[in-house]
This record gives sequence, C-alpha cells and structure tokens, in this order.
Amino acid sequence: MKAFSKAWINKFLITPVSFNTLSDAFTSHRMINKNGKYSDFLLYLLQYFLNVEGTVRLKDRNGFITGAAQGIGRSIAMGMAREGANVAIADINIESAEETAREIKKLGVNSFAIKLDVSSQEDIAKAFSTFTEKLGPVDILVNNAGITRDTLLMRMKEEDWDAVININLKGTFLCSKEAIKLMAKQRQGKIISISSVVAFMGNPGQANYSASKAGLIGLTKTIAKEYAGRGIRANAVAPGFIQTAMTEALSDKVKDEMKKAIPLGTFGTAEDVTNAVIFLSSAEADYITGQVIHVNGGMYM
Ligand code: NAI
Repeated sequence: MKAFSKAWINKFLITPVSFNTLSDAFTSHRMINKNGKYSDFLLYLLQYFLNVEGTVRLKDRNGFITGAAQGIGRSIAMGMAREGANVAIADINIESAEETAREIKKLGVNSFAIKLDVSSQEDIAKAFSTFTEKLGPVDILVNNAGITRDTLLMRMKEEDWDAVININLKGTFLCSKEAIKLMAKQRQGKIISISSVVAFMGNPGQANYSASKAGLIGLTKTIAKEYAGRGIRANAVAPGFIQTAMTEALSDKVKDEMKKAIPLGTFGTAEDVTNAVIFLSSAEADYITGQVIHVNGGMYM
C-alpha cells in the first residue's frame, strides 16, 4: 500500500465508503499480486467507482445470514455488504457476531447481530421478527450455520448424529420456513444453502455431516419447486476444501495429499464461496432455481 497513500486515495473518494473498505476490497479481490505490484490497480479503481455509482449487485437488499460471525459466513456477509446489501449476522456466538456487524457497518450499510440457535424454532421466529422490525423485507436468506462431529459410523453416538442433523439440516428447514412466510407475501426472495462436496462424494468419518449436507440438496430442490410460483428461488452452493482455521491446522503432508485430489491443485478460499453466493443472490441469477454450484477446484464433477 506504500505507493498509494490514504490521502491520495481519499482525494478520489466521492462516496461515504471508507479507505478501510477499499483497502479491504483490494485484498479480497486479490488485486495485489505476490510481488506487491499494482498492475491491475487502475482497472480495479475504475470498476470500484462504477460500482459505487450504481452497479453494485445487491443495493438496498436485506440479507439474513446464519453462522455469519466467522469463517465463510462472515466472508459472505462482508461480500454482500460490499455489494450494497444490509445484513443481519445471525449466530449462536453473539460476541463475534457483534464484532462482525461492527466491521460491516464501516462499509456504509446497515448491519446488526442477532443471537440465535438455528435448531430452535422459537429463536428463529424471534430473530426474523427483529429482522423485519429493523430492516423490513427479507430479500436473501443464506443458510450457512453448520457444525461437524466427525467419527466413524460404528463409533458415532446418537447425540453426534442428532446434533449435526439438527443444526445443519433442521436449522435450514426452520430458517427457510420462516423466511418463506415473509418472502411469499413479498412475492420474491432468494434462499441459498451451504452444502458440501461430501454430500456428493461421501467422506469417511462424516456420516452425519454428509447426510445433513445431502439432505440440504433435496430440501433446496423441493423449496424451489414449491415456491417458484411465489417468486422465490432456492439454490445451494457446495464448497470443497476451503482454507479455514480447520484446514490451517492440518500438517503440510496431509494438505499435500488433499491437494492431489483437486485438479486445480489448491484449496479454495471463503471468497470463492462468497462469489458464488453473491451471484445467486443477485438479479443475474433470477432464472436459476433448484441448482447447486460446486466450488471445489474440480475435485467433484
Ligand atoms: P465455522 O465453524 O468457521 O463457522 C460456523 C459458524 O456457525 C460459527 O460462527 C458458529 O458460531 C455458527 N453456528 C454453529 N452452530 C450454530 C447454531 N446452532 N446456530 C447458529 N449459529 C451456529 O465454519 P465454516 O468453515 O465457516 O463453514 C461455514 C459453512 O460452510 C458450514 O455450513 C460448513 O459446513 C460449510 N462448509 C465448510 C467447508 C470448509 O472447508 N470450511 C467446506 C464445505 C462446506
């Protein structure tokens, strides 16, 4: 960032978006290459100004994102906010959710944290009521909250099965149901659920998780068929191995083995998943429903 000082950039900023936002956007859009060169800088700046002048894809849309306090959900919330959406950070971890909402507000949109356990119908009803009081219509629901309780099937306890199914699958059913009540009245809405490559491939040690993520696909297609007539689109995104705290903890040897199964040869990033979610949330995807976008570097095709 040496070549372009804050003062220099601010001279060109004609919007309420702060320098932090732009700087953040640089890194997330990977405009700075490994040598620290800014070859694409001017092109990016041009695109940025075009965006703030009216071509952002989710301007004034309202998004409800579960599990958005950290990880992929946080990235989705930040990405949607950069595209002009107001976003509720709905998470069981309220401290981190509040911290994320504070960061997002700096992007010049409305954002707030809502505490909920997605497996509780009561929490969800309250959360959507808070959402509509604060923001109004629910335009986009992202079912992202998810957990793992990995072990081989013969050792898997019933409570490990129930916990994963309750949060990953029942949570998506309950949140979708509540959102559909509101979206149906508006006669428009987008529901995007985060599945996983293991829904399609299976994975030793993840009977509960892969079943929950496969269940999401059937649920998504059914919602798509039942509510297309009300203008509601339902789609899923199925990420492969995504660089997160979880994959960071693996040894280099294990990571190298995992990469061999990926034709593109690298792990994905939270931004790769975010890009697919933003596309599905936007008007560009209005003719797409009941589909799955695979974001996995080719490991399943
Ligand atoms: P993460 O563990 O970093 O974040 C999950 C978030 O969900 C956390 O903020 C957590 O507090 C929240 N959460 C957990 N239980 C909840 C509940 N009962 N109610 C509300 N919020 C709850 O996970 P990550 O890696 O960001 O994953 C996000 C989604 O993407 C999950 O559905 C996961 O299954 C899916 N996914 C992740 C992949 C990866 O490689 N990280 C690959 C494929 C899918």
